[in-house]
Amino acid sequence: MSKRKSKESSSANGECISQVQRILRERFCHCYAAGKLFGIEHQYRHLLELLKRTTVHGESNSALIIGPRGSGKTMLLNHVLKELMEIKQVRENLLEVHLNGLLQTNDKVALKEITRQLHLENVVGDKVFGSFAENLAFLLEALRKGDRTSSCPVLFILDEFDLFVHHKNQTLLYNLFDISQSAQTPVTVIGLTCRQDILELLEKRVKSRFSHRQIYLMNSFDFKQYIKIFKEQLSLPAEFLDESFAQKWNNNVQHLSEDKTVQDMLQSLFHYSKDLRSLHLLLMLALSNVTVHHPLITASDLHEASKQYRMDSKANIVHGLSVLEICLIIAMKHLNDVYEGEPFNFQMVYNGI
Ligand SMILES: Nc1ncnc2c1ncn2[C@@H]1O[C@H](COP(=O)(O)OP(=O)(O)OP(=O)(O)O)[C@@H](O)[C@H]1O
Ligand SMILES: [Mg+2]
Repeated sequence: MSKRKSKESSSANGECISQVQRILRERFCHCYAAGKLFGIEHQYRHLLELLKRTTVHGESNSALIIGPRGSGKTMLLNHVLKELMEIKQVRENLLEVHLNGLLQTNDKVALKEITRQLHLENVVGDKVFGSFAENLAFLLEALRKGDRTSSCPVLFILDEFDLFVHHKNQTLLYNLFDISQSAQTPVTVIGLTCRQDILELLEKRVKSRFSHRQIYLMNSFDFKQYIKIFKEQLSLPAEFLDESFAQKWNNNVQHLSEDKTVQDMLQSLFHYSKDLRSLHLLLMLALSNVTVHHPLITASDLHEASKQYRMDSKANIVHGLSVLEICLIIAMKHLNDVYEGEPFNFQMVYNGI
């Protein structure tokens, strides 16, 4: 009997652990709009208000979201879009175009992608356009409703915005900002970038058409808030399937956050990099130690994770090699530079030492 009971409890535990892994991994790895936003409520309201004006009242607009890597730009935008989509009128009308500077490396490719995302490939067909502006105007015209009095609002989201600046004559940016100023179609252009000096990169004619609305994300929380975020990110939600396990887990997290050694470790991470992406990576490494036999995260898991996090992976590869082996690697590196990727054999490397 007792054997059966213990088997049952261990299988329930297994289920708990896999759910813990699933919930927390989703929280750490995805920019899902389901997670919480920390310290950027003001920016959230600002962006929401701005987008509402386009989508509900049909105004055109432009704005830049500026912040270092991992400061939550994409997350902020996803949250705002999720809230917007709860409005019926927006859900039915709004058209979104997502571009990324890393993918759309010139304006021709970008225009093709815009056409594809607006589902206008058939409308465009084999038409030849005189200029970029003409083509874009044609696309927006095609979006007008049957009675031609109103048009669907279009939201252009340009991730890695600074890369679009290098496109020839900044034609795409010029045209997007230009139509966001003229009243024909409600168009909003949102750029996401980590360059603080982005405005200086814009040509004069582009800059003058930009609304100069900028939303800054600066990771401006202090260490106290950082500990609070650590606690919240690691805690299980109230609707977790096994209430008693969730309580045990959350109590453990509370203890961890009060532990002096954990606090010291978090403090050094905080000084090294404040962004939550680093914190998530650390927690992810610690979480991967959690198993049925080791169901709660311990301080030593976190220390181990922090060691792994700081490890230089390249230096790690050469760690423990003999002097001769290191000499061979250096000779290989030289040969690689000389032959520019052409193959070479061991004799050549050996002669190179
Ligand atoms: N203020 C915040 N509140 C909650 N989570 C945050 C916040 N800032 C960052 N994060 C978390 O950090 C991770 C990285 O955020 P995100 O991808 O939005 O950064 P980003 O600014 O878009 O970075 P990149 O410039 O590399 O695109 C996300 O998984 C998110 O959960
Ligand atoms: Mg991003």
